[in-house]
Amino acid sequence: MEISVQGRPSIQAARQDFPILDQEIGGHPVTFLDSASSAQKPRQVMQAVRSFEETSYANIHRGLYWLSEEATRLYEEARETVAGFLGVEDVPTLLFTRGTTESLNLLAYTWGERNLGEGDEIALPVMEHHSNLVPWQQLAFRKGARLRWIEINPDGTLDQDSLAAALDRRPKLFTFTWVSNVFGTINPVRELADRAHAAGATVILDGAQGVPHLPTRVEDLGVDFLAFSGHKMLAPTGIGVLWGRRELLETMPPFHYGGSMISTVRRDRSSWDVLPNRFEAGTPNISGAIGLAAACRYLDALGMEAVRDHDQDLLAYAFEQLASLEGLEVFGPEDLAGRSCVVSFRFRNIHPHDLATLLAREGVCVRAGHHCCQPLMREIGMMGTTRASFYVYNNREDVDRLVQALDKAGRLFSGVKCKP
Ligand SMILES: Cc1ncc(COP(=O)(O)O)c(C=O)c1O
Repeated sequence: MEISVQGRPSIQAARQDFPILDQEIGGHPVTFLDSASSAQKPRQVMQAVRSFEETSYANIHRGLYWLSEEATRLYEEARETVAGFLGVEDVPTLLFTRGTTESLNLLAYTWGERNLGEGDEIALPVMEHHSNLVPWQQLAFRKGARLRWIEINPDGTLDQDSLAAALDRRPKLFTFTWVSNVFGTINPVRELADRAHAAGATVILDGAQGVPHLPTRVEDLGVDFLAFSGHKMLAPTGIGVLWGRRELLETMPPFHYGGSMISTVRRDRSSWDVLPNRFEAGTPNISGAIGLAAACRYLDALGMEAVRDHDQDLLAYAFEQLASLEGLEVFGPEDLAGRSCVVSFRFRNIHPHDLATLLAREGVCVRAGHHCCQPLMREIGMMGTTRASFYVYNNREDVDRLVQALDKAGRLFSGVKCKP
């Protein structure tokens, strides 16, 4: 089964692969600027899933008939494709999960339960998404461990003094996001990983916003574990990845128990299968894995360097255009080379939910709220922000439509008098 990418698709032509963007909603073209939440899917990904479900679907790893053997082959081939996309050579160290949240919970309940104890420290930046915060907070409660927060500068970069102080305390774990889903800050992964290792920590990277946008070679990142979600990189929901170093994965107990992850089961004891099966209990999301592999092939065909260049071009254009709006303040680093294309902003005193609702009336889909980063919102003194995020199918016209819709909303609100 092949996806039908004919020739090498270019970013400029990519938009035509996304049928959802062809339609009008409420008389407006769809201006989709919420990819940091979940990205749209190209035809090639949908076709790969449909073709699998129409011609080769069956459960995997157990049937002795052709359909099951074919489904198993495609599922394991999907693992190889995703591993290839990340430069992972030891393919069984790439585990399929439901997404970043499940990958991080898996780590907290397996690596964390086994390796953290009373008084141990977990260092993490205050910019973390709840997915890379709550599992560690709860683990710390269970084990008597402590969270050591790394503060941020007003521009959304890590505070170096706070980072140095956290590492000086020799934390057992340093877990952080590659890209902030609020500020767009790109954290310097290799440098942070090397420093954390020198301080004796195990290093986990939340790649939910990084892997979809930045060329990824796992060995170059220098981390011990990498978690990400398929649905933020053109794949279906319900599929994601946890990659880990073999020597660590092999010491970890299973996360879920049940079918497909055992070696033998007796009435009074069981033993576990080898990687990756010991961490993939039950029937996995077979179609999702095939969709994720198709998304990786699609992104590979575009070229991740080209994806990054496209992001940078749109980001620069968005910054230029947004600057024309009086009273609009963008959060995050000013140096565009240090950010990915997530643009969170405040516009005058308009509540983010009101603003997002008005933008939606113009067909502009953005996110508003705390973006699952409540501690960070408290830090910047906001209840929430409005966030536009771009991906391969966006173009400068989308930015223009965002700016026009903001301008309209601003004019509407300039006539609104608040009660004294
Ligand atoms: C930085 C970051 N980490 C983790 C997550 C959680 O991803 P998922 O909901 O796919 O598990 C998100 C989702 O927005 C995110 O932006």
